[in-house]
Amino acid sequence: MDIKELIRETAAKVEARLDALLPDETTSPATLHKAMRYSVFAGGKRIRPLLCMEAARACGGSEDAALNAACALEVLHTYTLIHDDLPCMDDDDLRRGRPTNHKVFGEGIAVLAGDALLTEAFAILARVPGNERYDASDYVAELAYRTGSLNLVGGQVLDLEGEGRTLTLDELEAIHDGKTSALIMAAVRLGGMSAGCTAEQLDALTAYGHDLGRAFQIIDDILDVTSSPEVLGKSVGKDVREQKATYPALIGMDAARAEARSLTASARAALDVFSDKRRENLLAINDYLLKRDY
Ligand code: IPE
Ligand code: IPE
Ligand code: MG
Ligand code: MG
Ligand code: MG
Repeated sequence: MDIKELIRETAAKVEARLDALLPDETTSPATLHKAMRYSVFAGGKRIRPLLCMEAARACGGSEDAALNAACALEVLHTYTLIHDDLPCMDDDDLRRGRPTNHKVFGEGIAVLAGDALLTEAFAILARVPGNERYDASDYVAELAYRTGSLNLVGGQVLDLEGEGRTLTLDELEAIHDGKTSALIMAAVRLGGMSAGCTAEQLDALTAYGHDLGRAFQIIDDILDVTSSPEVLGKSVGKDVREQKATYPALIGMDAARAEARSLTASARAALDVFSDKRRENLLAINDYLLKRDY
């Protein structure tokens, strides 16, 4: 299947399931549920659900069996975007082609919509069926570890503390590993775990997710310099204005591109343990994300 078609088809499945999982807009408190749905259904790329579902398939499971785990990832990811955009964080006005959550609903509701999405993600994940190797408590522990103070939230802290400072490459990598790679690793690992993957398969997915995740954030940093709000659906030029630590700022645009290419190659190599048939979609996603323009 063509990669763009796969992305479109998977996004449609994920959005239909998200619609069924989340309380509707009229459920009390209506403002909160409206705010949650506003950001979830604003049209993200749905890359983490796709990675989760394709990792499940690579391990011999079905994409559809991983659909609820995939939705949990997207719900949690959306909370990170709402909070990332707040005035006390990156202070952004545009997200997924729309005014940011706090611009529409106010800061208080935006904080609480993020809180509720974070909590709901674990409620969804806790109901994913177990198998002979993993049960729901393993899924919940996995997502909590990858998104807590040691990883995603910790990475966001380092990102804030890095503003206006010139970091070492190691410090910048720690930011990317935390704020971005960790959730992408959780996506592929949860896909594999929900399909009852072997330890060898889980190690391969972990290495793939780590390198793809780092490349993903480097491309995000590059697009902040080279793209436009119309294409990206979010503000551009902000990283320079806010003096964010990024790859282009630290090592220059050409070296940043070369690093993303090298990480994409090592992510590809990590999938050697899977047969060609099993890994083809994960390889196609990896290549697509390197060349993406939004
Ligand atoms: C944006 O993630 C935040 C980063 C970790 C770079 P995405 O680029 O996946 O955003 P959406 O979900 O498509 O809006
Ligand atoms: C965001 O990184 C990472 C998380 C939301 C956890 P950025 O701040 O670079 O993401 P964008 O560019 O606002 O999407
Ligand atoms: Mg940020
Ligand atoms: Mg941001
Ligand atoms: Mg960015």
